[in-house]
Amino acid sequence: MDKLIIEGGHPLRGEVNISGAKNSAVAILPAALLAGAPCTIKNLPDIKDVANIIDILKQLGAEVNKESHDKVIINSNTINTYKVDFELSKKLRASYYFIGALLGRFKKAEVPFPGGCDIGVRPIDQHIKGFEALGAKVIIEHGIIRAEADELVGAPIFLDVVSVGATINIMLAACMAKGTTIIENAAKEPYIVDTANFLNALGANIKGAGTDEIKIKGVETLGGCEHTIIPDQMEAGTYMIAAAASKGDIIVKNIIPTHLDSISAKMREMGVNIIENGDSLRVIANTRPKAVNIKTLPYPGFPTDLQQPMSVLLSISDGTAIINESIYDGRFKHVDELKKMGAKISVEGRIAIVEGVPKLLGAPVCATDLRAGAAMVVAGLSAEGETVISNITHIERGYENFENKLIKLGAKVKRINEED
Ligand code: EPU
Repeated sequence: MDKLIIEGGHPLRGEVNISGAKNSAVAILPAALLAGAPCTIKNLPDIKDVANIIDILKQLGAEVNKESHDKVIINSNTINTYKVDFELSKKLRASYYFIGALLGRFKKAEVPFPGGCDIGVRPIDQHIKGFEALGAKVIIEHGIIRAEADELVGAPIFLDVVSVGATINIMLAACMAKGTTIIENAAKEPYIVDTANFLNALGANIKGAGTDEIKIKGVETLGGCEHTIIPDQMEAGTYMIAAAASKGDIIVKNIIPTHLDSISAKMREMGVNIIENGDSLRVIANTRPKAVNIKTLPYPGFPTDLQQPMSVLLSISDGTAIINESIYDGRFKHVDELKKMGAKISVEGRIAIVEGVPKLLGAPVCATDLRAGAAMVVAGLSAEGETVISNITHIERGYENFENKLIKLGAKVKRINEED
């Protein structure tokens, strides 16, 4: 396994291009399983989670042609099994989308429990409740979720918690069901809208994606389409935070600024200058940021996926901040690593109290999960001296070309092999 070595203290400057959104890509690729004709998917991020989803599609028998680093053509008419391989499924969280997609297309799915980041309890009871409401029988045996139906019939489904995964999975299963499905208390993340747009381009009839009530009128068949994945707001937000932590001045390009409103608003509260310009945004930070409180919430609230990088910026801010992580009960694992760099943070359950220090000091640290890894990179960029980050395989699951994009922005980052 490789490590990243970062020499801190070099302000980020220049322009960075944001790749396609991971959490859209890992939903839209399984959704392509529903298509009756080939689909071209563009602006795919070149990351491990996408490679893993493509491996599952191929294992199921789909033809996947990678035309370039960010474009694939998928023909799912060659699929010859409804069973997802155990080892492939546990490589990531989003393998659960194969339940909805296989069920929607073949009325039968067998998918081993998904893997993904260890950030607390991550049940899928709302996904199962949705499939059952549509008429499927769902059994969990030996770590495998088996779902089956003679026919799927649209139904009203009220989600007990706002869930990105359950909202998308129910859309996948319902778009070729008989009659109308209504998802209430649906998640509103841009990934939901992107996936609904993709399905509608295939011929589905989905209305209301992006609001908390989504109506899906079942259609008989779906065709093919060409679709471009939306930009990754979490990647963009990570660079914005990294720019502020390094007291830099960067332009974040190829984004949809409204998707970043909660982050821009918080950073402005902290005294960071953010200027929007069409599909890009400039971040200028030349003074120490002011401490602010944050509470993670479903979209459009402050995203849990940026809580960890943001906690780094708060750890070097002026004053004391309270972080309330309302989505996951284990998303503070990075705090012990940050403390090795001199951060003053105390955690009590889902609350962290961050007492800002003037600077962090480089240290050997570990990426305990994807966004924790991104947080360590942000910490390393801002710190005095050298930070060595191990376990970076987590980072590669979600950030395309991270170190090269940072090097282009003037960061001093080097990758070495663990044994070196
Ligand atoms: N939940 C339930 N029951 C369910 C589903 C969810 O209780 O059936 C709870 C979860 O435990 C959590 C909350 O509902 O407390 C929200 O979970 P959600 O289902 O929205 O999360 P997810 O679909 O598993 C996606 C992203 C995560 C992101 C969350 C929240 C993907 C593949 N993953 O996960 O992304 O944190 O939504 O926005 O889309 C990341 O990119 O680093 C990442 C972890």
